[in-house]
Amino acid sequence: MTKGGAALDDPSRTAAVDRSGMLSAVAGLGGQLRRGWDLGRSAACPREWGDPQRHDAIVVAGMGGSGIAGDVVRALLRDHARSCIEVSKGYALPAFSTPETLVFVVSYSGDTEEALAVYEQAQARRCRTVTVSAGGRLRELAEAAHGVHVDLPADAPMPRAALGYLVGGVVGFRGLMEPDPQEVAATARLLDELAARWEAREPMGRNEAKGVAAWLGERTPLVWGSEGLLEPVALRWKNQMNENAKIPAFWSVLPELDHNEVEGWSPDTAKGVAVIALRHPGEHPRVAERFALTIELASSAGLEVREVHAEGSSPLERLFSLVLLGDFVSTYLAILRGVDPTPVPVLTDLKERLRR
Ligand code: F6R
Repeated sequence: MTKGGAALDDPSRTAAVDRSGMLSAVAGLGGQLRRGWDLGRSAACPREWGDPQRHDAIVVAGMGGSGIAGDVVRALLRDHARSCIEVSKGYALPAFSTPETLVFVVSYSGDTEEALAVYEQAQARRCRTVTVSAGGRLRELAEAAHGVHVDLPADAPMPRAALGYLVGGVVGFRGLMEPDPQEVAATARLLDELAARWEAREPMGRNEAKGVAAWLGERTPLVWGSEGLLEPVALRWKNQMNENAKIPAFWSVLPELDHNEVEGWSPDTAKGVAVIALRHPGEHPRVAERFALTIELASSAGLEVREVHAEGSSPLERLFSLVLLGDFVSTYLAILRGVDPTPVPVLTDLKERLRR
């Protein structure tokens, strides 16, 4: 680990560590969202599938960097959708699924065994099944069945670097109601602006993403989100810290953490941990009060807390602005640690062993 983060302003070091170009993939989030939305919008499907009032439930199934698209979609639709939205991360399609259930099976590679298992079950139960991938077995199966498939570009270096495509491909689908096209376009523009502010060329002194990475240093991040909109963002930060920076990380959500986690902090237990608090102006007013009190209590128990704030006015902008910040922070942290952010050798090896 390079001390103080000054190394982040050295382009030759950044290029030497970020060998597969994760920073430029991260910066493309806005463009991906635009493209994914268009692809989801143009997916041809039977008429009743395209009517949001006609699903008895919505299921989004997928794992890891693809599965998080389901968490994002649920957070965005929760306050609007008439039907229950379930995120399925595992081998089983929920038992309540019927032929009127809209099931998205999302896997960027198209080869994830849990997603393929859910696809088989959704087909067997004649659900309204939409596959979302950039190829792989999932696309082959969907094509063979003449199913509805959202075919994503295969140019992202890793599934977790394809989140804009994945979320856009699902929320663009006509059978969902939110968000509207203007909101998507405004979000993509905002993400382009933010990427320009946080890219490697912008020096530490005016680059929030580099600043947060240097502040975290060698400590273990604990990411706090707030109920609803920022739950998936806290999880995304944690996962990106694991996969990009290759460090352990944890996440929790207010108000729930006020009912358990707060009891665990003391000068002894807080050693080596740093809290990132994700904030947005649409928090429930009591959550905002809880944040203030919780931060005060945590600080007096020896935890250092740093707040970061969402940008934009719509839920989509707020959610994605903080996703983008976490993507940059975790990539800069990898660079500070001298670790190439892109490859994930341990999880690749695990998949390989399971395949044998
Ligand atoms: C790798 C990554 C992983 C994968 C997961 C599922 O970048 O983020 O978490 O997303 O192993 O694979 P896919 O997304 O191809 O279904």
